[in-house]
Amino acid sequence: MAGTINVDYGTSIPNNIGLGDDRRVLKALEKWHPGYLNWWHSMGPEGFQESLVYLRTAVSVDLDGWAKFGYVRMPEYKWGILLAPQEEDRRVPCGEHAGEPAWQDVPGEYRAMLRRLIVIQGDTEPASVEQQRHLGHTAPSLYDMRNLFQVNVEEGRHLWAMVYLLQKYFGRDGREEAEELLRRQSGHADHPRMLGAFNEATPDWLSFFMFTTFTDRDGKMQLEALAQSGFDPLSRTCRFMLTEEAHHMFVGATGVARAIQRTCDVMNEAGIDDPYDVDRIRALGVIDLPTIQKKCNLHFTLSLDLFGSEISTNAANAFNAGIKGRYKENKIDDDHKLVDATYPALRLIDGQIKRVDEPALSALNMRLRDDYVDDCAKGIKLWNNTIKKADIDFEITLPHVAFHRQIGEFASINASPDGKVLSDDEWQAQCDQWLPNKADGDFIDSLMVSEVEPGRYAGWIAPPKVGIDNKPGDFEYVKIDG
Ligand SMILES: [Fe+2]
Ligand SMILES: [Fe+2]
Repeated sequence: MAGTINVDYGTSIPNNIGLGDDRRVLKALEKWHPGYLNWWHSMGPEGFQESLVYLRTAVSVDLDGWAKFGYVRMPEYKWGILLAPQEEDRRVPCGEHAGEPAWQDVPGEYRAMLRRLIVIQGDTEPASVEQQRHLGHTAPSLYDMRNLFQVNVEEGRHLWAMVYLLQKYFGRDGREEAEELLRRQSGHADHPRMLGAFNEATPDWLSFFMFTTFTDRDGKMQLEALAQSGFDPLSRTCRFMLTEEAHHMFVGATGVARAIQRTCDVMNEAGIDDPYDVDRIRALGVIDLPTIQKKCNLHFTLSLDLFGSEISTNAANAFNAGIKGRYKENKIDDDHKLVDATYPALRLIDGQIKRVDEPALSALNMRLRDDYVDDCAKGIKLWNNTIKKADIDFEITLPHVAFHRQIGEFASINASPDGKVLSDDEWQAQCDQWLPNKADGDFIDSLMVSEVEPGRYAGWIAPPKVGIDNKPGDFEYVKIDG
């Protein structure tokens, strides 16, 4: 049956798509499973595989009450295949097929394009688990350790989600791609992950929180665009993934907010009101706000690069084909074809950053990135409210999109965080103020000590306002010894 609400735990792979009746795909996934577990053990969280972790597991795709909480050993987590229920009479939302019935099978002419999009999305999921694999050892609390592992198992599930699509709809090359997803490794010299930001290190917990704030939010935008796909199984898969993604960004945004809270509290207790009095602040064992700004600059810009080139024929083709829509495509009031439409894009013209009208189809990456920047701006409000409440004169800001870019229009220039084009010398003289340097990294590293007493928190971060699943402050989120 296509899309029941409740999840069937009767087969070896929990699912809500009647996998029990689809022997071919079930077999293919069962064959893939040992390789996945192998990957989890060698590239997933380092240690803690025998620990009991208080995790949520999806038991339904009903948006009210889709998860249950309980202690699980991570390798025994129920990684399932969950698709949002099929919408009756769903239509291709955009492009030249707009208005035609959504595809339940892969349209032959778009097979290669679809496969590529699914593989790129799939590749990011295990990559982030690999990037975060060392962090369990320096968790600032059991609460945080549990959140890390929750994000990790769900990214693992997202890999399953993409592998299901490959196995079900792409035959032999789908199976090969599914194997490749387990073979590439974040940061590997010979077979790295596909996208730059997913080959960067996540060396400390502030990086983890910034990553889940900014890079998981890129994930959200990509999923939102794929949720608009005319290929219905992809749309349904992504719609359910988005429910889980919200928690990842919550972990990031509140994690940074708690670090900020602690810094502000400690500054106030010590009577320091100058946020740039870095040495004194650091001596108190908390992360100064200018360093938090630098980390924000780094992770925001790495994530901007994930949107690809501002002007892109690939993006135009995917939209035209109806396999990737815009953010909230179904809520936009236009013809959904964009043949003659324009979009104001930021471009580099004669060495200057200028806004010019471009064909809207070519500028779709830029548009999605603009939506992303707006969403990020909402996200950092929580941080600034925390600083304001503590009565400290500092504001975290998002740097200009031309700052510190490796991909797209601005990769060839240096720009300051406020968007001024700089010479190489000017950049070299100032970049240490804008991006974390070795000393910043070493300092943050020195604070990364694990705190595993229930209810206690490392000195650089404040406790959360509420517990997971409304548990009390001293709840033992991870029973380390199992
Ligand atoms: Fe994900
Ligand atoms: Fe995520």
